[in-house]
Amino acid sequence: MARPKATRVLVLHGPNLNLLGTREPAIYGRTTLAELDRQIQRHAESRATQVECRQSNHEGQLVDWIQGAAREGFHAIVLNPGALTHYSLALRDAVSAVSIPVVEVHLSNVHGREEFRRHSVIAAAARGQISGFGPASYRLAIDAALESVPRGRLSRPR
Ligand code: DQA
Repeated sequence: MARPKATRVLVLHGPNLNLLGTREPAIYGRTTLAELDRQIQRHAESRATQVECRQSNHEGQLVDWIQGAAREGFHAIVLNPGALTHYSLALRDAVSAVSIPVVEVHLSNVHGREEFRRHSVIAAAARGQISGFGPASYRLAIDAALESVPRGRLSRPR
């Protein structure tokens, strides 16, 4: 029987999340993206999970990463689409197109902010959405991603 391999989760941060730490700290906090990624790594290690974190300000790059994730050997995606959440049908179609689970994540509670943030075009295509817990949103999203990976996926030979 094939030896079970570790679950691999791809974490994607969208536009402007590279500015975490200095960007509107009253909303997004003082944690930088580098520190957030370290927290995500530590949490993943505690769950015997491999994660890779990437950030892009470009919609097409995010689409390419989502499309290629399964081919790269990832079992699930945690996606913070930033403002693309609210209008990117290209990103939604990419999420719909892939067979691995995608968990949508937000640092802030998008449902308690401006009207335009209350609607996500991604949410219906995603496995689910976690919003409003600051950096802990990502830890919860990793756990949700792990819950979403079908049993048997991990021991299947590549
Ligand atoms: C965000 C919420 C979005 O509305 C916003 O455009 C972001 C960050 C969040 O993590 O809270 O860039 O996705």
